Amino acid sequence: MKKMNLFILCILIPFALMAQDAKMDAFIIDLMSKMTLQEKIGQLNLPTFGDFQTGAVTSSNVSEKIRKGAVGGLFGSSSYDDIRAAQELAVTQSRLKIPLLFGLDVIHGLKTTFPIPLALACSWDMPLIEKTARVAAKEASAVGVNWTFSPMVDIARDPRWGRIAEGSGEDPFLGGLVAEAMVKGYQGSDLSQNNTILSCVKHFALYGAAEAGRDYNTVDMSKVKMYEYYLPPYKAAIKAGAATVMSSFNEVDGVPATGNKWLMTDLLRKDWGFNGFVVTDYTAINEMTQHGSGNLQQVSAQALKAGIDQDMVGEGFLTTLEKSLKEGKVSLSDIELACRRILESKYKLGLFEDPYRYNVKKRADTEILTVENRLAAREAATKSFVLLKNEKQLLPLKKSGSVALVGPLADNLKDPMGTWFVAGDWNKSVTVLKGFENVLGSAVKVNYALGANITEDPMLLAQLDLNHTYKKRDRADLIKEAVDAAMKSDVVVAVLGESEAMSGEAASRTDIGIPENQMELLKALVKTGKPVVLVLMNGRPLTLLWENENVPAILEAWAPGIEAGNAVADVLFGDVNPSGKLTTTFPRNVGQIPLYYNHKNTGRPYDGNLKEKYKSKYLDVVNEPLFAFGYGLSYTTFDYSDVTVSSKNLQGTATLIASVTVKNTGKYAGEEVVQLYLSDPVASVTRSVKDLKGYKKISLKPGESQVVTFTITPETLKFYHSDLSYDWEGGEFIFHIGTSSDKVKSVSVNWEK
Ligand code: BGC
Repeated sequence: MKKMNLFILCILIPFALMAQDAKMDAFIIDLMSKMTLQEKIGQLNLPTFGDFQTGAVTSSNVSEKIRKGAVGGLFGSSSYDDIRAAQELAVTQSRLKIPLLFGLDVIHGLKTTFPIPLALACSWDMPLIEKTARVAAKEASAVGVNWTFSPMVDIARDPRWGRIAEGSGEDPFLGGLVAEAMVKGYQGSDLSQNNTILSCVKHFALYGAAEAGRDYNTVDMSKVKMYEYYLPPYKAAIKAGAATVMSSFNEVDGVPATGNKWLMTDLLRKDWGFNGFVVTDYTAINEMTQHGSGNLQQVSAQALKAGIDQDMVGEGFLTTLEKSLKEGKVSLSDIELACRRILESKYKLGLFEDPYRYNVKKRADTEILTVENRLAAREAATKSFVLLKNEKQLLPLKKSGSVALVGPLADNLKDPMGTWFVAGDWNKSVTVLKGFENVLGSAVKVNYALGANITEDPMLLAQLDLNHTYKKRDRADLIKEAVDAAMKSDVVVAVLGESEAMSGEAASRTDIGIPENQMELLKALVKTGKPVVLVLMNGRPLTLLWENENVPAILEAWAPGIEAGNAVADVLFGDVNPSGKLTTTFPRNVGQIPLYYNHKNTGRPYDGNLKEKYKSKYLDVVNEPLFAFGYGLSYTTFDYSDVTVSSKNLQGTATLIASVTVKNTGKYAGEEVVQLYLSDPVASVTRSVKDLKGYKKISLKPGESQVVTFTITPETLKFYHSDLSYDWEGGEFIFHIGTSSDKVKSVSVNWEK
């Protein structure tokens, strides 16, 4: 009976979808038949509300343009009233009453600010990540936002790049899973529901590979590297149904992405089957002029013909397409295709049925920043923390005695929110000091001192807004207060790192250490002889050589979001056992960058013998990172058995089962991310030393063991060849299973085609 129902559904659903599509087609054909050329071009225009900017240009006369039908959507506001007013203007005063889209960078939550995306990825917990996006969509849609410019899925191998904070790190496999989870979280299963919104995959493509980690810089890479390492997360997002895509600022293969037909049409639409619309990044069409692609009319025509549908802020489409049409530089069907794709998205959201579907006062008043959502943010934060060091089990701390809590991020409301908290209200965040009070009550005496400003570097001070925290105080006095607090206490917790504006967009750094004045504080604290726990808040991997050698416990807390303090207290005092694993490599120094786990072997790999001269190495630092991809400790310990496989010789489309037994050998219940990597030592294209191919997150009580199995098929063995075909080649394969990319147990199998 069940089978029969399923069979009927399988037949009926495609018909229902086709009927829906036919209905949408008829509606849009009818609407477009009434639209003037100017109104069609108007749909391709995306200004801001006027007071929001992430570039030099601002939008002006927006209301007037809405009335004239010269606006397809607006972005940059989370105000229920402003969104309502703009929609009212569109549906009452424009000639055809076409509703607007409302976009916003809801990157890690709207009002309930979750940890930054890089931190979330370190949870390796896809249901959790999907849930954060779900909560974000619910809150955003309540005020009227129906389109988020997220997920950002750019692979990044360079921690100098500030936007590494916005992505999920360096691995394409994990990046693809995160992309999928976020798209599903935002869009749900039905876009016309009033609490699901359009997602926007960005920045297409390769933005994370900006040379030298300098934002907006040139990108140049081989197609094999592109397909193997950089494109998979975008592709995964498209496969998951992402409704829109944002073009990137950089060039791809010598042509700005925003004007790149191969990228936007051949790859995205023809190969990957994307059928939503593509919006540019902020003024990216205009910037093609700076890239050297021609004047505004030329680049606008190029972008449209490449496959761009909507122009963010720059108004190149609005001001030049009519002329280009007259001159035969674009065709009417180019314009109509873009217009149609945008109208389709509005239709799918249900905006033609009800333009206020996503702007519901009652929901805006009751569904935002709820206790439940804050609890989700607290849980997500604790799961994103990575324990980097814990000598002599200093952590968890006892809930008794006294603690000196020091550092510029210890009693700081704003910076722990992280980059792009856009609509989040930092006055509602929980500082670490407050979190200690919430979790400990009066059980522990907390001696607080600021200890240092975030930075005293004049160049940074000139560019960062630190008014919320900066104290004009003598550096030595601040340190002395902190040392006094330490001397009165059993243990020191130093909360150090970066301000929220030190990572994110246009926030690249060449020195990725803890700022020098904070280091001075840390050194003084260590010198007291008191045990020091370093809690880091930052948006990128930092260089932590001295810290790792001299500080007994280090917890990487990233930018934890609105529940920062509660989450830090939960973990430091043992209510939650940390289980995060790095998704980005921590180098020893900046000179090692780019440093990533899935590198090539080279023809002269270094094998640890410094005496051998002609090897791929440095004279002054080892090749290994300080903390490898996949690394992260727990308060408990896990023991891994050897890897067993179902067969050592396989043929064709066989299936291999690889397994290990993992045992919790410590005193605490804990979660562990069991990771599977693959090496393909001989192939017609050189392969990386290992690639992540799977993982399982398990939970074990003290003394408990679990057999963890991975099912491997030839699909796992495939890779991109020089002609970009995707296939596998028979021969030896090595499977590695372990706790991090650099701590694995391995087994070799022979698998012939
Ligand atoms: C960023 C995008 C963002 C856009 C709109 C740009 O500067 O690169 O990621 O979505 O601004 O705010």
